[in-house]
Amino acid sequence: MNAIQIIVGSMLGGTEYVAEACEETLNKLDRNVDIHLKPDLKTILNNTFSAINDLGLVQENSNISSKSPVWIICTSTHGAGEYPDNIQQFVSDLTNCDQDLSTVSFLTIGIGDSNYDTFCKAAKDISKLLISIGCKELIALKTFDMAADIDPEDLAQQWISTNKDLF
Ligand SMILES: Cc1cc2nc3c(=O)[nH]c(=O)nc-3n(C[C@H](O)[C@H](O)[C@H](O)COP(=O)(O)O)c2cc1C
Repeated sequence: MNAIQIIVGSMLGGTEYVAEACEETLNKLDRNVDIHLKPDLKTILNNTFSAINDLGLVQENSNISSKSPVWIICTSTHGAGEYPDNIQQFVSDLTNCDQDLSTVSFLTIGIGDSNYDTFCKAAKDISKLLISIGCKELIALKTFDMAADIDPEDLAQQWISTNKDLF
């Protein structure tokens, strides 16, 4: 089984609920999940790569094939297209990270409001950043629009279930 790190960017807490709804669905699917409400790159890398080592042992012992570790970025956008405060240090550390992250696969869920010209810009920017440092995007960015989507938690859970074979 692959390890999933859910990395949350949220200013007012709404995106935390969406991320926790995804965590709940993944747990029901028997996935191994860590959620990071205050993302710290070092912790996330430790979790990511210790999981790979653990998986290596599982593979040696039982010949089970596993997929690569997955990061799910779940972030809103604030200011004029900016990252929420709680994820800014993570983004900065990631930008300056010289570790090889090419074994990491990711998908991004963006929460925003289509009344802003910079709709879900933080989610778009972090997807571009992850691709630029060699991570593999599993599926195109999924956005939820707070001006139109009434229950983003429920919609996110449905989306995770529909795409469960990706991770
Ligand atoms: C001050 C402010 C600025 C915002 N700027 C943007 C923006 O640039 N683009 C966007 O898509 N949504 C923007 N939003 C909408 C938020 O992303 C949306 O309300 C989201 O649900 C907030 O999530 P959070 O509770 O996790 O912080 C903004 C909201 C506020 C209050």
